[in-house]
Amino acid sequence: MADTKEGLMRREDIAATLRPFDQASPLAGPAYRDAAILEAEFDRIFLEMWLCVGHQDAVRHAGDFVMREIGGESVLVVRDRDGSLGAFYNVCRHRGTRLIDDSAGGGIDCIRCPYHGWSYGLDGGLIAAPLMDGVSGFDKADYPLRAIRCDTWEGFVFVNFEAGAAPLGEYLADFPDVSRFAMADMRLGAMHEYEIAANWKLVCENYGECYHCPSNHPQLNPISNFQSGGDSVEGSSFCGGPMRLNEGCVTMTMDGQTKRDPIAGLPPEDLRQVHYFNIYPAFLLSLHPDYVLTHTIWPLAADRSFIRCEWLFTAEAVARDDFDPSDAVDFWHLTNEQDWAICERAQKGVRSRAYVPGRYQGLEETIYFFDNWYLRAMEAALSGMEPALAGEVGVSSHDAAGAVPRAAAPVAAATTSDDGGA
Ligand code: FES
Ligand SMILES: [Fe+2]
Repeated sequence: MADTKEGLMRREDIAATLRPFDQASPLAGPAYRDAAILEAEFDRIFLEMWLCVGHQDAVRHAGDFVMREIGGESVLVVRDRDGSLGAFYNVCRHRGTRLIDDSAGGGIDCIRCPYHGWSYGLDGGLIAAPLMDGVSGFDKADYPLRAIRCDTWEGFVFVNFEAGAAPLGEYLADFPDVSRFAMADMRLGAMHEYEIAANWKLVCENYGECYHCPSNHPQLNPISNFQSGGDSVEGSSFCGGPMRLNEGCVTMTMDGQTKRDPIAGLPPEDLRQVHYFNIYPAFLLSLHPDYVLTHTIWPLAADRSFIRCEWLFTAEAVARDDFDPSDAVDFWHLTNEQDWAICERAQKGVRSRAYVPGRYQGLEETIYFFDNWYLRAMEAALSGMEPALAGEVGVSSHDAAGAVPRAAAPVAAATTSDDGGA
């Protein structure tokens, strides 16, 4: 008999989400409102897994940096003079003070602590420590900023707080080949930051379905019909799927048109659809014919999230005198605001004691993938049982060790259909 230690969620609720898709129910309310669950998510997900902090164009030059906060931690990603990228805890080695508050910046030649002036080079080494020369046995070489793992994939910068985690390449090993989009060469054309009153998982789930589009996105549905989705795909670290552009539309803008050229070399099928992915836990990657849209979601509390949205364009498009990203930015900013409003409304409902999960609609398979990945990552913490026992919780369609039985289809093979997809 399994250990019956108290869990953070009812085992029958966990089991209900782990059932086969056509019998499963969405996540139960505590997952969206319980501060103890968020703390467990910080431990098991955000401080253990690779997190995308944005595109490398934000740290293109020596002295450029970005700062992100998650789970009480803060990371600085800094471009050094030799061109290398480093990631460091945003914590002074003297008495621990937070070093930098801005989410991004450039042109710095050192990082100076505002408290007593200890200063660090762009490689994290301590280069100045006022009046410390006379301190017995003190050697600046012993006090560099503490490093965090950092790597890039397709031009996106990822960090990982867990020193023992598998390499990023391994984490993304089964992700479809998207090299034809040449994202590493892209430029950051626009950025928006949002703070919303909704749990981070509601934002990920909302991104994963267009069942809500007719009633929430009157401007989107005429550009890409909500039932135009192709087959959903999932892998060990992602889920997603394509949606087709409506006849006569060439990209996602207010009128479905643009002056920009498509990304060079894309095959015809990529010019007719947009690929949407969530790279777990919360890096939303949307590949359009002529630009790339990303969201990274950073939980602040069980019911609050910070969202950073970036628009990436080809270097050729950005270099043109008449470059104007506003057609794509205005469209997605409006769509974002519509999404945040419905996510905040959802948050108000799932916090109620009256909320009992319903059932997934057929267009919500990607949410099911996300919710099942989430429970596999969190099952032991949520159920109060160790992974070996957690398999007894219910009738999981996945094994408790986190293996995903379904092979990830390559993007090119993810064909569109008219039947409502998913
Ligand atoms: S805490 Fe940073 S210099 Fe003292
Ligand atoms: Fe939406």
